[in-house]
Amino acid sequence: MKRRLFLMALLMMALMFVGCGNQDSEQVTELETASEMVEDSAESSLAEGDGGKTLIAYFTWADNTYVENPEEIDVDATSSASLLNPGNVGLIASWIQEETGADLFSIQVEELYSSDYDECLDRASEENAQDARPALATHVENMEQYDTIYLGYPNWWYSTPMAILSFIDEYNLEGKQIVLFCSHGTGGLAGSVEAITDELPENCSISENVLGVYRPEVASSKDRVLAWVQEIEQELGN
Ligand SMILES: Cc1cc2nc3c(=O)[nH]c(=O)nc-3n(C[C@H](O)[C@H](O)[C@H](O)COP(=O)(O)O)c2cc1C
Repeated sequence: MKRRLFLMALLMMALMFVGCGNQDSEQVTELETASEMVEDSAESSLAEGDGGKTLIAYFTWADNTYVENPEEIDVDATSSASLLNPGNVGLIASWIQEETGADLFSIQVEELYSSDYDECLDRASEENAQDARPALATHVENMEQYDTIYLGYPNWWYSTPMAILSFIDEYNLEGKQIVLFCSHGTGGLAGSVEAITDELPENCSISENVLGVYRPEVASSKDRVLAWVQEIEQELGN
């Protein structure tokens, strides 16, 4: 947005400059020079990695498991919302998308997790212990076009699903603005922010305003999420 305003100001200055000329041919040459200046400026800011777009990338159990009979899920069980689309983190991501108009991206592993809570817990625990980087099945095309990434995840074992670290490792995220959001049980954010921060390149700018939404409150948290997005967008100057 700031880049667009800057380019418009540059174009207006250039047009004023052209307006001062006398001859038609002089004006054409000056207009060409002015538009080249604007193009050069646009290219140089893109070359710096300022793609200007925002991505919402998130991991949710619902997109990383297979449920044979969704109609048999006990909707009152604590983990049921995580097994049915969009999942808790997926729902928060959809509200962020509604407010920002940004691109949505679901991080998915190649080898799906079990839809049985205990089995999923066991595998997640093993992956944590091994500092694993599960292979991913989905990939972002043209990451350079994004300068801001909202990165969402559930708290898994007091930290993050290791697939979030696989995602971070896959791309060059140097210099990007990172905004974290999380859904969790009674453990809150626990060590998740530290684990993700440690994995990101040092020159990323990570907002300290991290959103954490307690699992049973997710469905009724839309207003809170939208208010948080507005704070973040203000912080980012969008
Ligand atoms: C494998 C696994 C491990 C979890 N570990 C924790 C934890 O350590 N602390 C916590 O507060 N919640 C934990 N949870 C609960 C999730 O963070 C919570 O249900 C979240 O809302 C799930 O989001 P989702 O529906 O997008 O997957 C765990 C859930 C799973 C499936």
